[in-house]
Amino acid sequence: MRVNSWNEWDPLKHIIVGRAVGTMVQAPEPAVQRDWPEHGFSLGTFGRFPKEMEEKAEELLDDFAEILESHGIRVDRPTPLDFSQPVQTPDWKQETMFGCMAPRDLLLVIGNEILEATMSYRSRWFEYLCYRPLLEQYFKEDSKMRWEAAPKPRLTDRSYKKGYWEKFNAMNHNEQLESGKARDWVLTEAEPLFDAADVARCGKDLFVQASTATNSAGTDWLRRHFPDHRIHVVHFLEDSPLHIDATFVLLRPGLALSNPERPSLVPGLKELFDKNDWEIVECAEPARHGKASLSFCSQWLSMNCLVLDSETVCVEAGETAQIKQLEKLGFDVISVPFWDVSPFGGGLHCATADVCREGTCRDYFPEQIEGF
Ligand code: NVA
Repeated sequence: MRVNSWNEWDPLKHIIVGRAVGTMVQAPEPAVQRDWPEHGFSLGTFGRFPKEMEEKAEELLDDFAEILESHGIRVDRPTPLDFSQPVQTPDWKQETMFGCMAPRDLLLVIGNEILEATMSYRSRWFEYLCYRPLLEQYFKEDSKMRWEAAPKPRLTDRSYKKGYWEKFNAMNHNEQLESGKARDWVLTEAEPLFDAADVARCGKDLFVQASTATNSAGTDWLRRHFPDHRIHVVHFLEDSPLHIDATFVLLRPGLALSNPERPSLVPGLKELFDKNDWEIVECAEPARHGKASLSFCSQWLSMNCLVLDSETVCVEAGETAQIKQLEKLGFDVISVPFWDVSPFGGGLHCATADVCREGTCRDYFPEQIEGF
């Protein structure tokens, strides 16, 4: 086996698919506060997801893994921990962990390197341990693999703006959007923080979303860590952006999907794509409206697809408009029932992390834009 993946579309050979078992509605912490009274978890309460939800999600994840295997792709799975246990460092104690359904959030694969992201939630600080059995194995099996971990963050109160959620919750939606425009989110710049799922990989170019989980120090760290890449910091209109893959999705050379409700706030992005003859297509209308119960993800998971090669893509089975649109764009679509997995942390792209795709590092944007 080998670790090798430079983009989101080269032929997929080996992938990790997450697991839902044991996932928690996590206890409140400075970065995130769940408040779902209508589903039994009002602010301050926490606990394991209902058993029937967990069983359904596990079944769908297993089915997805089987579909991938039937296409000749090797699939590995993480090892869940007891996420209900309290965790602590010398700086803080957190009542619960979260889960390991979304390897994309944590593992950034660039070429032969797998980089463990910092993460920014205390409940996710130890999540990397779920992937260690696999990473140890890859390190043994592939003598060229580079295994890296970004500096473990302290996540003390210095890393979060004091009183952020009270202020945010008191705003109307327009004010929340304005604060998103100003990149006024919960994280401070005390230390580098990023989630791997804020990165869209495109050969030599990496698009990194400024978000509620990824601060400027985090993008700066990535820039210094990958000196041979061009890091483009992108920013879309959204009050609380989290992860780029329901906002801006790279499908194949020359083609990207954008979210019509979340336009880019950095002009350089469109300029760069235009200048290099890439088309940006607005994604289709999602089939659902609003969030599933106990979910922090939006209906835009409709565009959170997994590309198997530049002609084949996995899309959530209920997203008929999205499926039609991708077929029109020339893809063979594999429809995968997955909506009931969304409360556990996302869609088909979130639930996976590439280990190997064929291909090499190419330059898809030879014409660059100054200052972007
Ligand atoms: N935060 C995104 C999901 C990212 C996969 C959304 O809710 O649309």
